[in-house]
Amino acid sequence: MDELIIQGGKPLSGKVRISGSKNAALPILLGSMLVPGEVVISGLPELQDVGTTIELLTLFGCSCRREGDSVSIVAGSGLKPEAPYDLVRTMRASVLCLGPLLARLGRARVALPGGCAIGSRPIDMHLRSLEKLGASFDLDSGDILGHCERLRGAHVVFDFPTVGGTENMLLAAVLAEGETILENAAREPEVSDLAEFLNACGARISGQGTSLIRIKGVESLRNCRYTVMPDRIEAGTYMAAAGISGGDLQLENCPDWALDTVIAKFREMGLEVEAGESVTRVRSSPDLACIDIVTQPYPGFPTDMQAQFMALMCVASGSGMIQETIFENRFLHALELMRLGAQIKISGDTALIRGERRLIGAPVQASDLRASASLVLAGLAARGTTTVRRIYHLDRGYERMEDKLAQVGARIRRKK
Ligand code: EPU
Repeated sequence: MDELIIQGGKPLSGKVRISGSKNAALPILLGSMLVPGEVVISGLPELQDVGTTIELLTLFGCSCRREGDSVSIVAGSGLKPEAPYDLVRTMRASVLCLGPLLARLGRARVALPGGCAIGSRPIDMHLRSLEKLGASFDLDSGDILGHCERLRGAHVVFDFPTVGGTENMLLAAVLAEGETILENAAREPEVSDLAEFLNACGARISGQGTSLIRIKGVESLRNCRYTVMPDRIEAGTYMAAAGISGGDLQLENCPDWALDTVIAKFREMGLEVEAGESVTRVRSSPDLACIDIVTQPYPGFPTDMQAQFMALMCVASGSGMIQETIFENRFLHALELMRLGAQIKISGDTALIRGERRLIGAPVQASDLRASASLVLAGLAARGTTTVRRIYHLDRGYERMEDKLAQVGARIRRKK
């Protein structure tokens, strides 16, 4: 298994280009199954989950041709409602196959995703809302079997603004008969990006980016070309890298418009963030201070930036609190940060961080994607050598992270 070896203590400086968003790319790729003609999706990050999704599309019967950061997908008449368990099982986002397969074929079979390191992550809201459109589900050997006649528009009120649940509904309702109204829908920019992609294919979705989304069903969707939005969490992670290393970074292709809350929190800590025409400049300060954070659905503070802020707070002055309200078990990185000398106390869903620690390098183990990023960040600040193990998590969500960091001066290398 690969490891990252980091010699900390070097302020980063220079330009980093932000890649396309993983969490926007995956539902958009799966959404291409709704279109019988050719869809060309560009701006794709080179990530394992993107590769797995394209492989999945091929196994569902799509013809996919990849070229650079684009892929051409044709989901013609040979579409199949199921894919091999071993592949579907490796990626939680495969549950987003349900919407498009039910809409196109009236049948779908996907593996019921199990829990993962950050929480139990059920899909009850996906299934309940799809049932409102007329689908029914059975469980068969750990797989969900879905079937329906033509889906019919319905009024759905989510118990919680679930990102995946809202996406699955968009993917199903675009081809349903009549109008679907989603209340308490997720407002995340990646959900809006999916809606924009579907509209570019001829769907009639309005209200994306608000908690009330209307979808007027259409008979079929048409060919389109679409570029996925830049990755706001990758951008936020490099902002944290500038901060923790005492550096000065310029981020190209940075989606500032989707980072208001995150940028406000960085500024509250003392970072200088200047959004320009083509680059966003982020400068650290010797007077970084801990703050309090509560994770919330968008436009609140994102759970996907919680671990990175925790790393940054370990070296800032004073003490701060982080409350994680989205996932029930997303503090595993805290224990590893403590191996580097961080002082963190966890009580239920809240972490108390005492700052001003001098971190000292050590071997640490990544437990999930954002936890891995926080350990890399801590390694950039720590004295001596930090070895981050199990970085396959990182490879699922950050495009060439060690190359991008090395280009701006980090002493980091991958050991195979
Ligand atoms: N939930 C349920 N039932 C459901 C759906 C969700 O109880 O049917 C719970 C989840 O267990 C969780 C909460 O609701 O506690 C939020 O889940 P949500 O559905 O909003 O999240 P998701 O679609 O599973 C996406 C991202 C996550 C990101 C969350 C929150 C993708 C592929 N994943 O997950 O990204 O943390 O939204 O913003 O888009 C990451 O990139 O590291 C990552 C985990």
